[in-house]
Amino acid sequence: MALKITVIGTGYLGATHAAAMAELGFEVLGLDVVPEKIELLSSGRVPMYEPGLEDLLAKHVAGIEGSSGRLRFTTSWEEVGAFGDVHFVCVNTPQKHGEYACDMSYVDAAFTSLAAVVREGALVVGKSTVPVGSAERLAGLLPEGVDLAWNPEFLREGFAVQDTLRPDRIVVGVQDAGGRAEKTLREVYAVPTGQGSPFVVTDFPTAELVKTAANSFLATKISFINAMAEVCEAAGGDVVKLAEAIGHDDRIGAKFLRAGVGFGGGCLPKDIRAFMARAGELGVDQALTFLREIDSINMRRRGQMVEMAREVLGGSSFLGARVAVLGATFKPDSDDVRDSPALNVAGQIHLQGGQVTVYDPKGMENARRLFPTLGYADTALDAVRGADVVLHLTEWREFRELDPAELAAVVSSPVILDGRNALDSERWRAAGWTYRAMGRPRA
Ligand code: UGA
Repeated sequence: MALKITVIGTGYLGATHAAAMAELGFEVLGLDVVPEKIELLSSGRVPMYEPGLEDLLAKHVAGIEGSSGRLRFTTSWEEVGAFGDVHFVCVNTPQKHGEYACDMSYVDAAFTSLAAVVREGALVVGKSTVPVGSAERLAGLLPEGVDLAWNPEFLREGFAVQDTLRPDRIVVGVQDAGGRAEKTLREVYAVPTGQGSPFVVTDFPTAELVKTAANSFLATKISFINAMAEVCEAAGGDVVKLAEAIGHDDRIGAKFLRAGVGFGGGCLPKDIRAFMARAGELGVDQALTFLREIDSINMRRRGQMVEMAREVLGGSSFLGARVAVLGATFKPDSDDVRDSPALNVAGQIHLQGGQVTVYDPKGMENARRLFPTLGYADTALDAVRGADVVLHLTEWREFRELDPAELAAVVSSPVILDGRNALDSERWRAAGWTYRAMGRPRA
């Protein structure tokens, strides 16, 4: 009999994991405590923008014409307990208010609810990003005869479906290598491992650390290149060429070396902070003090973008200046505005008296909710109309495909600051724009 799988928590991670499990051929039941989410998902829709996810849901959600019917959603813990052979816990672990540490209350609540209904012999699998040591504690909440495994997730927003169906590695933390939990997870992931995804078995703490170490490394890579951008700015170098040149070294690699306004989102910033907090509890805070520097290099980029805008506007105040901001999400192909550098810069300029108008292809609704006092336009062209300066802060393809000449005709002053080093500087300059970017010569 094929394994029956439940997925607890249906955010980016859970909704994608549930749909991917159905795609792999399993019967899947997804649970969320928010009834509106369950209603939406049951009709094949998702409460966020994630390319390919709605198509995958439509292919499997029961009740949708032509679907496999293998995927259902519920708010009932009893149903989840009775149904599942394997339960994936995918709830979020945000940063605690006013602290670096992560908020484990959703994970704890999920384990407590699940423990009350889970069948003997079932396997519980944690996927949420948690501080090292959590799995061992959470195992203690589960009844006798129920195993726990820790299986961190590495999906990127915008590529969630692809990353889940064809992961570049599957990491499984177990208490008993070669035991029942490992065997069950090898069965769950037979298709991707058959297609070549490496399957790495570890103990609990290592599995938990793999996730935070990976995100810390990525954050470090981005802040490294942004530190180089600061030096390039002072020395007259070009960080884009520098990144290209060092990226040819296989040991360094060209990815995640795009300098600009830095990293944001719901993962990298909070994960490095939670990691520092946990290291402090473990008495090894010195090992991670460099992450504090990674965080401050990153946060400094936002201020530097604000200063670059101030400078091109004449150097004193933003009062009365019209500033267009292209991009609101923390990265393209997502509608997520959590800790978005773009909105942070827009907000700072607005608070200093600038008249800011924002446009983003998918993030408008979320941006409006978070920053209701900013101005918003329905198109890029409308956003830049009358602008004294245009800031390109999220590298959507739509912005690379804009016609600089068309925009030049409607702005008050053709000055563009590329906060992502993603636009074709020659094209913009040829259309009469003053183009400036972070870490690059003014030319
Ligand atoms: C990140 C990791 O990449 C995933 O592997 C991980 O699973 C996920 O967090 C998570 O913990 O759940 P994500 O937050 O979707 O994924 O975003 P990334 O693609 O990592 O980008 C993070 C930020 O870095 C964005 O703001 C992006 O604009 C910025 N970035 C990225 C740069 O500034 N420069 C770069 O070269 C690359």
